[in-house]
Amino acid sequence: MGIKKTVSVLGLGRMGSALARALVEEGYEVTVWNRTPKTIENTRTAATPQEAFKSDVVVACLSTYDVQQPLLSNEIKVLVNLTSGTPEQARQTAEWARTNGVEYVDGVIMAVPQQIRTAQAKILFSGNENHHVLHAFGEPVHVGEDAGLAALYDLALLGIMWSAFTGYLQAVALVGTEGVTPEQITPMAAGWLADLGTMLPEMGHVTQTRQYETDVSALDINVSGLALLTEANRAQGLDVTLPKTLHDLYERAQRNGHGAHSIASVIEEIRK
Ligand SMILES: NC(=O)c1ccc[n+]([C@@H]2O[C@H](COP(=O)([O-])OP(=O)(O)OC[C@H]3O[C@@H](n4cnc5c(N)ncnc54)[C@H](OP(=O)(O)O)[C@@H]3O)[C@@H](O)[C@H]2O)c1
Repeated sequence: MGIKKTVSVLGLGRMGSALARALVEEGYEVTVWNRTPKTIENTRTAATPQEAFKSDVVVACLSTYDVQQPLLSNEIKVLVNLTSGTPEQARQTAEWARTNGVEYVDGVIMAVPQQIRTAQAKILFSGNENHHVLHAFGEPVHVGEDAGLAALYDLALLGIMWSAFTGYLQAVALVGTEGVTPEQITPMAAGWLADLGTMLPEMGHVTQTRQYETDVSALDINVSGLALLTEANRAQGLDVTLPKTLHDLYERAQRNGHGAHSIASVIEEIRK
């Protein structure tokens, strides 16, 4: 059995703490550093980031790149960057690493801290394929050579999450105005989301062929539906930002000639 590398974790917030514990459980010798002094069982606490840089690998999980960048140094040997950012920020950090002789892995965590070390935790990473420590956190998935790709996937997938969760919250608020409880609508909502998921492969395909003819549901009828949804929310005294925004986007696609087309044609407006 080979000797395990030593690993430091910079940032012991909700996620960084879970990562440090996972590395300990995986048998690594772990050093931790946090701005506000904090300890994690069975790890060594570094008084300064420089002390943490002595490890073979440094895993960074800070709130933002703005916070992270001033902490980085060319004393780091291998940087595994798990701080969320834009693709451009990831590429700039990869370039900083290249010019400073630091080996670099860019990753994003598609999980909450409680899911770390479970099969549900997907760790998308791009650029350097040298990903040994990522196995301690979940399932590593390499998404490409460009260092910005993991961040791109991350934001795209989170966009789906934020849209779907907000749609659910709007639904709970709407039925709640008539005394329907979340417990009553949630099983229907969860089943509905799962059914909608089965439609994505076909929708994705159509965004590429741009053959939007449909015998399922035309945009015209969906624009009418979104007007009804907006009106019903307004009548119940609720905020209509979400339904109105969707209505306006769909209506723009309708005005631009997609009334008889499928919902997939809305991508023509989004791509503008
Ligand atoms: N939590 C999740 O479910 C989740 C899921 C996927 C990805 N992520 C990503 O993981 C990263 C960390 O998230 P988190 O949930 O752990 O956040 P968090 O609990 O708010 O922790 C933020 C971390 O950043 C540090 N920090 C903030 N400002 C700093 C500064 N000016 N200088 C030095 N350190 C500073 C904090 O140190 P102090 O303790 O001293 O404040 C703490 O260690 C984020 O990029 C997030 O998007 C989180």
